[in-house]
Amino acid sequence: MANRPFQLTLNGQSVGPVDIPDDLPMIDYLHEYKNLTGSRLGCGQGICHACVVIVDNADGTSEEVRTCITGAHYFEGKKCGPSKVMRAAMSRARSPR
Ligand code: FES
Repeated sequence: MANRPFQLTLNGQSVGPVDIPDDLPMIDYLHEYKNLTGSRLGCGQGICHACVVIVDNADGTSEEVRTCITGAHYFEGKKCGPSKVMRAAMSRARSPR
């Protein structure tokens, strides 16, 4: 499989361009290329939503995308970050008890 250049905004930071395989799932990109493991691999079939990230669209809307069944190149030029569940968990982890 061929590589293609890829870039996006991830957690507020511009990433790339980097060459990645055409068929690389986004969850593998996050885990293997960025060491971001907040999106968990659960079912791997698009059912459980453990792997969801939020994509902010140019029109002001946002969408949840299951990274286990979505290729990384879908995210080309987009802004993405953790899901609401992950944001809440990160906030709880940072809050003093
Ligand atoms: S791992 Fe279950 S939907 Fe992605």
